[in-house]
Amino acid sequence: MATAAVPDREAGAGLGAELGDVGAEDLRPPDAAASRVERFLDDGSFLELGSARVHRATGFGLERKRVPGDGVVAGTGTLDGRPVHVFAQDRYVLGGSLGEAHADRIADTIGRALRGGTPVVGINDSGGARIQEGVAALDGYGAVFRANVAASGRVPQLSVVLGACAGGAVYSPALMDLTIMSDAATMFLTGPRVVRAVTGEDVDARTLGGPEVHGARTGSAHLLAPDDDAALALAGRVLSYLPSAAWLPAPVVDPVAPAHDDPGASVPRDPRAPYDVRDVIAGVVDGGSFLELQERWARNLVVGFARMEGRSVGVIANQPAWLAGVLDATASEKGARFVRMCDAFGLPLVVLVDVPGFLPGSEQEHGGVIRRGAKLLHAFTSATVPRVSLVLRKAYGGAYIVMNSRSIGADAVLAWPGAELAVLGAEGAADLVFRRELERHPERRDELMTRYREDAMDVGVAAGRGSVSEIIAPEDSREALLGLLRALRDGAPRGFVHDNLPQ
Ligand code: HXC
Repeated sequence: MATAAVPDREAGAGLGAELGDVGAEDLRPPDAAASRVERFLDDGSFLELGSARVHRATGFGLERKRVPGDGVVAGTGTLDGRPVHVFAQDRYVLGGSLGEAHADRIADTIGRALRGGTPVVGINDSGGARIQEGVAALDGYGAVFRANVAASGRVPQLSVVLGACAGGAVYSPALMDLTIMSDAATMFLTGPRVVRAVTGEDVDARTLGGPEVHGARTGSAHLLAPDDDAALALAGRVLSYLPSAAWLPAPVVDPVAPAHDDPGASVPRDPRAPYDVRDVIAGVVDGGSFLELQERWARNLVVGFARMEGRSVGVIANQPAWLAGVLDATASEKGARFVRMCDAFGLPLVVLVDVPGFLPGSEQEHGGVIRRGAKLLHAFTSATVPRVSLVLRKAYGGAYIVMNSRSIGADAVLAWPGAELAVLGAEGAADLVFRRELERHPERRDELMTRYREDAMDVGVAAGRGSVSEIIAPEDSREALLGLLRALRDGAPRGFVHDNLPQ
């Protein structure tokens, strides 16, 4: 079945089967599942599988609510000519709730994507576990989660949340690689009514788990979109950077010149002055190709997909415009998941370093910066894709090591002239190293700081001992990075590397 009508389901429980066969298709609301699937995929390419499936449950009147497909549209089609598997929950059938048959169809779809080596896209709009089906619904979720985990790191899994995503429904998106939310979407483990009943807290759905919450506070949403179609278009854009499976190459498109050719233009010389690192990214990657993820969460670290000479890369950059670009526990988790995702799907890593260190203080220590920072350290150290760093101004302390230094396996570390690499910034270092001298001669502070800068921090020192592979002019950055990426591209063939564990 291609784009042909599915009037029974579309006119199902919520809309009333009395719509009959004449005109039912025209009355189908745009937020019904089949309509969303059709708009997402290439015209006429959708083949539904399991459209006659109904649940077996009885009791609570469910036997009178058997709707073909059981509230989910699932099957396969193409997107920009590439095969993709897709499922979409239908809010008009029992609130898109998940019962045994509904779950089976989703798990089957994910399993087929894995066997076929194609991405799977889930369109979520669901009230969670179908309450009347009890433990069968819970086991249904278990089966979906198991399928998600089996496919993790093997084929791309995207979740597009376009309505409610409540209860057990939230964990499938969280197990997938990436979640996109429309402005009408909400995600919460327990809905407002249950929250009120259990805790007495009075909170509306949007405040509890709307796009603002997951875009800026939890990081659970990677991309936000104003409406259904924009969210679906973003899913297509994300897939354009990724291979169909870990063992396949990512799509290559025509190269585009960068938006400007002077990546150093907006970078102040003073290592403490802020600037937006996205201006540097724009001077390095193909024009218009940068797609930032989790833009409003952990803003001190910028991550996103881009292209260089038409080939996909993952970009990770400290952001001096936010918290001076420090690493902290949250940014480390953000970076770690992104690095692991790129590594799983074979995308080379381009790392722009301008970092004053890890954020000090009891809030970070008590918040687990050791454990959580270790995730980024582990992700970079274990990454097997080509990975190159460019130090723009400074790289201090533990953050220097963590941000893809040579010592943890970067293929090359480039640096701009004047960059500083050290255990501490000059002020902190001078106060510690020359403490006794400064007690006797406080007037020597500037002189001693200059000495420390020249003898220990200067990029020439790091280049001399091999921590920096080459010092390059800012305007040569793109060419140098491209040269490295070309030279590192054709290593041993890749297969499955690892899963994409939620961080
Ligand atoms: C069965 C459900 C349902 C559910 C909604 N419906 N959710 N039926 N099980 N989980 C049904 C409603 O009874 C209603 O049926 C129809 O779907 C539409 O629902 P409305 O509430 O009228 O729609 P709306 O106002 O748009 O609100 C949608 C909603 C709300 C926000 C999703 O229905 C809601 O809060 N549902 C419950 C959310 C929740 O707490 N889920 C947790 C489930 S427990 P009729 O016949 O009247 O049209 C869970 C645990 C698993 O998931 C944990 C695993 C880790």
